[in-house]
Amino acid sequence: EFKKNTVFVLFGASGDLAKKETFPALFGLFSEGVMDPSTKIFCYARSNLTVQQLRDNCAQYCRPSTTGNDKAKMDQFFKMVTYVQGNYDTDVGFIKLRGEIEAFEKERGVTEPHRIFYLAIPPPIFLTVASHLKNNVYAENGITRLIVEKPFGDDLETSRELQRGFKPLFKEEEIFKIDHFLGKDDLKRLLAVRFANPFLGATWNKEYIEQIEVWFKEPFGAEGRGGYFDPVGIIRDVMQNHLLQILTIATMEEPVAYEAEAIRDAKVQLLKCMETLGPKNVVATGQYTNSLDGKLPSYLDDDTVLDKNSKCLTFTEITMDIKNERWAGVPIVMRAGKSLDEDRVEIRMKYKKNTHGMFPGVTPNMFVIQFHPERKIYMTFNTTAPGFVDNLHQVSLDMAYSKKYAKDWVPEAYERLIRDAFLGNRANYVRDDELDVSWAIFTPLLQYLEGPNAPAPEIYPYGSTGPKGILE
Ligand code: BG6
Repeated sequence: EFKKNTVFVLFGASGDLAKKETFPALFGLFSEGVMDPSTKIFCYARSNLTVQQLRDNCAQYCRPSTTGNDKAKMDQFFKMVTYVQGNYDTDVGFIKLRGEIEAFEKERGVTEPHRIFYLAIPPPIFLTVASHLKNNVYAENGITRLIVEKPFGDDLETSRELQRGFKPLFKEEEIFKIDHFLGKDDLKRLLAVRFANPFLGATWNKEYIEQIEVWFKEPFGAEGRGGYFDPVGIIRDVMQNHLLQILTIATMEEPVAYEAEAIRDAKVQLLKCMETLGPKNVVATGQYTNSLDGKLPSYLDDDTVLDKNSKCLTFTEITMDIKNERWAGVPIVMRAGKSLDEDRVEIRMKYKKNTHGMFPGVTPNMFVIQFHPERKIYMTFNTTAPGFVDNLHQVSLDMAYSKKYAKDWVPEAYERLIRDAFLGNRANYVRDDELDVSWAIFTPLLQYLEGPNAPAPEIYPYGSTGPKGILE
């Protein structure tokens, strides 16, 4: 249940993330009647902004609500918002913020404050802001929650350093680390799909599965985000977190209960069975150049990419193994790239060929969870075409959200995650030990690819399928 008079503070309110994700999610929760209208939202940033400006910035990213009347809802929503201008590295702004928060809580007669702080700010200032927060606006007699956005470090060591930095300030249960893929409805649904359908569960192993593919293909580049992307690269941007989460949930053993810690325990168990990645796992790496017709820019052309000799990877494909009873020997292919030929984010469980009986060699089955371009879960299935001739052919058993749930409000990732934080549900947030193992898996690979023996990234045209060496 939503606690009345919760205070939600958005740091970095003038930034890209706040405008495109956080505000629209807060508005979505409000306009669908999920967020309690007694909630107070404080926005904090360095620029001199008005609430109207914040509204103008994010309006185009807010989804229409299912019950209409959005203008009135927007008016109401923005009445809940107060802007506080302040710096991140001195106490002054935080003291001002404390004054505002306390005045609100006093007016509402709050005795046990419930404060949620959302850090939509660059990682180098995470700890600075966290410590000013602790000193000035921590809810001493109530509940404090801190939502932090990735990247959590650049490798195992820096991630641990960050965790050590947070430790004296906040308890682990107060910190909510976002991997927004965990908030996606489709990924959450995978638990039910796998464990509530015994026929699928029975075949979800090395006896039946030939290969697992996790693909992340985007038709656009790092345009305008070079400042963030260049030191990060595609592996840290989506593989070590989003794609690994998809893979983990698709391959873990059944959690002992449908409950946050049990689910996260099962994930960590699985991650511990994954091999550490290194040179032998690399299939291809690349960086995009101009499209063949010259119209779309190369990675290095982007004004926000400052290092014009940058070797930053915008494409990586790896193969990997899970060394446990269920998956040993099943190849896993992970492919991620920007500026490719299509928009496709999905995980495919490719079944083995049928080798005997009446239909040997028939096209194998495939079970797919697709996030882009469409949200859907589908399975390819062999049958005969209608008519007198028994022609075998393959059809798709399809559960597309756009059809099945056309009238429903399907929460966006950030809507689910922010609601979870209001309710204190941590199941869809990343736990420290999970973060540790995921970095341990990827760190040696990153060291190799960023070290002196790294293979030169293959240059591929914007809009192509990527480097030539990729698997069929
Ligand atoms: C972000 C990455 O975390 O996820 C982006 O930084 C990527 O590079 C994005 O485009 C994809 O998320 P979604 O929700 O649009 O699939």
